[in-house]
Amino acid sequence: MPVLLPPALELSLDLLRCPICRTRRLHPDRGALRCSAGHTFDVARRGYVSLLTGTRATSGDDAAMVQARDRFLATGAYAPIREALARLAADSVSERGAVVDVGCGTGYYLAGVLDRLPGARGLGLDTSVRALRSAARAHARAAAATWDVFRPFPLADAVADVVLDVFAPRNPAEFHRVLRPAGRLIVVRPTGRHLAELRSRVPGTVTVDPAKEPRLHRALDPYFEAVATEQVEYPVALARPAALDLVGMTPSARHVSRADLGDDGLLPDRVTVAVLATAYRPR
Ligand SMILES: C[S@@+](CC[C@H](N)C(=O)[O-])C[C@H]1O[C@@H](n2cnc3c(N)ncnc32)[C@H](O)[C@@H]1O
Ligand SMILES: [Zn+2]
Repeated sequence: MPVLLPPALELSLDLLRCPICRTRRLHPDRGALRCSAGHTFDVARRGYVSLLTGTRATSGDDAAMVQARDRFLATGAYAPIREALARLAADSVSERGAVVDVGCGTGYYLAGVLDRLPGARGLGLDTSVRALRSAARAHARAAAATWDVFRPFPLADAVADVVLDVFAPRNPAEFHRVLRPAGRLIVVRPTGRHLAELRSRVPGTVTVDPAKEPRLHRALDPYFEAVATEQVEYPVALARPAALDLVGMTPSARHVSRADLGDDGLLPDRVTVAVLATAYRPR
């Protein structure tokens, strides 16, 4: 049965280009998207478009991680991060812009930014189909598509007003290509103090590598110049289910079993949230 194109995807069609021939636009065709050379991309019943075809995603969050992330973000524990991001975005662009969220996960941050920009539309990209099911429902103006950040983006040149990258892998050259000259890249990443209480108590949890920050600067420097940074740091109380979800949604989940966490008070009842959010201007 033909699927109707989700309204948010209609809103973002002008941003897209065919990921295979990379030159042609995509047009709706019987519930799918198609370029004039005939390359066709299915729109899932759950509302996201599958642009990443012919490959198997090698990374991306699985169903358990996405469910944990959805539940944890719904507690509001990261709301101050979302607010900082929305402030930086609103300071950077007009209300009617295009916002692209790379590694969008469940679309939590994209939705927060779109709330702040009443005339804007958004597109979330992620390899995780499970995450995109949530992202496609996250906001009335947010579309969602499967994509691998390490491949040339399925986006035309200079179409985005804001590119978001929140705790997600990065592709500086592609960020630069798809941004308008007056656009902004906004990157959120953890500092060394982020969730320190969790990392010191839970065996096998991944630490924040101190070399990451200089590495980020080196990678972005040829393409971007930092214009504003917000440091977001606060303590947050954690009920046990939220603490379990916080472990379950991070890459640590791949190394820690639920049994490891036991009932013996290993999980902290309070953690420090500590991130940096930086807005960059294209060079
Ligand atoms: C730590 S999560 C952050 C998700 C979201 N930005 C948030 O903060 O809630 C990292 C996200 O990047 C996605 N991801 C991992 N590798 C990717 C890749 N190569 N291309 C696109 N997305 C990727 C994962 O599926 C996951 O949704
Ligand atoms: Zn094509």
